[in-house]
This record gives sequence, C-alpha cells and structure tokens, in this order.
Amino acid sequence: MLWKDEGLLHLGAEAEVRSGIWLGISAVKKKRLPRTWRHPDLDRTLTRRRLEAECRAMRRLSACEIRIPALLQLDRATHTMVMSRLPGSPLIELLREGVDDASAMLSKVGGMIRQMHRQGVVHGDLSTNNILWSEEEPALVDLGLSRLTTEIEHFGIDLHVLQEILSGSHPEYEDAMSAVESGYLAFDEAAGPTPDSSGGALPSAEQVIKRLEDIRSRVRYHG
Ligand SMILES: Nc1ncnc2c1ncn2[C@@H]1O[C@H](COP(=O)(O)OP(=O)(O)O)[C@@H](O)[C@H]1O
Ligand SMILES: [Mg+2]
Repeated sequence: MLWKDEGLLHLGAEAEVRSGIWLGISAVKKKRLPRTWRHPDLDRTLTRRRLEAECRAMRRLSACEIRIPALLQLDRATHTMVMSRLPGSPLIELLREGVDDASAMLSKVGGMIRQMHRQGVVHGDLSTNNILWSEEEPALVDLGLSRLTTEIEHFGIDLHVLQEILSGSHPEYEDAMSAVESGYLAFDEAAGPTPDSSGGALPSAEQVIKRLEDIRSRVRYHG
C-alpha cells in the first residue's frame, strides 16, 4: 500500500480530506464525494471537471513561488487525489483566535493572490478556510473551482469573494480588505509589469483593484 492513513482531516459537503503518509511523505488524500441529489452522470462530469481544474491550476502554479500542495497521485475513477501536506493552520482559525498583526498577514495574502493572478489563475473560492498560514507565509489549497483566464472581471470577482468572507466572518478586522489590496498592489510594484500569460495579456494589479471597486458598487446598487 502506498497510503498509510492517519485519520480524517476534514469532511465537507463535497469532499473527504484525510491525512496520512504516502511513500514516506506527509500527505493529504482528497476524495470527492458523490452528491446524490444530482443526476449521477451530471455529478460525475462536474466532479471530474473540478478534479481536473484543481490539477491544472496546481501544475500552472508549481512554476512560481506560491506555496501550494504538490500533486502526488490522481485517480480519476474514484475522484481521488493525493497531495503533499502543507504545514500551518487555516486563516479562519488564526483570525478567530486573534493575531497581533493582521494587516501584515493579510497584506502577504494579497501579495500571494496577485502572484497567482499573474500566472493567469483565479482561485474561485478564496475563503479563509482555503488559505493556510505557517512560518509567516501564506499558502493556498482547494483549487477545484479555479480557472485559467485573462479576463479582468474574473480577477476582480476572485478578490470580491475574499472581501465578502472577510467582512462576513471576520468583521472585527475592519481594515482587512485594504491590507489585502495594498499587498496585491505592492506585488506589482516590486515585480514590475505583468508578463503575458499563455492565454494573452493580463490586467495589472491596479486595473484589477479598479475593477474590484466597480464590482463593489454594482453589488451595492443591485444587491
Ligand atoms: N494539502 C493540504 N495540506 C494541509 N491541509 C490541507 C491540504 N488540503 C486540504 N487541507 C485542509 O483540509 C481542509 C479541506 O480541504 P479542501 O481542499 O479545502 O476541501 P473542501 O473542498 O472540502 O473545502 C482545508 O481547509 C485545509 O484545512
Ligand atoms: Mg476548502
């Protein structure tokens, strides 16, 4: 057996996540579960799409310095992937327990998101559950809703999802989103003009933040 199980890490509506050892490596096994309320054929198609999206984004991002799990094994038949286990705790837990310098933390998160966007990847589910934190650095998991894109609206929405979660789940950190935005913008200032992705030209950080403001006012007027 390649897999030595160490127990359940997380049971969500969509997937069972277990921790264990895979060929001597500390690993995580994520098995997507069937959703019985959907027609089985449709469910299989959607599940496969997510599995593939997750692998595709992990592959694209493995070329840069963002901390993401390494894909170790993939079984399309059982919708299961094995990946390296990242250290650290989800941001949701740390923010709930209380952190000394949330702004510095969230600014690094913003920088990481910008770095991902510069690869032409949107995460699709930027919640504080899916961002881990260890040794003063953020990491990303759960890329099943990600997509490869160059469209500015997609990048803006990616940030807007995080904004909604920060204001909904962590309202005590009032400046949370502005810290994320400043890290997002600072990444471009440090790294220079955004290179084209294989899909075409990508918007700059400044353009994405401008679009985020548009999205915000659209949401405000139309609910
Ligand atoms: N590679 C990993 N390393 C460490 N923890 C992980 C890893 N993958 C998932 N987790 C933990 O398990 C939780 C659930 O995994 P996730 O991929 O987000 O599944 P779901 O789709 O059910 O949200 C994450 O919030 C994270 O705490
Ligand atoms: Mg998740």
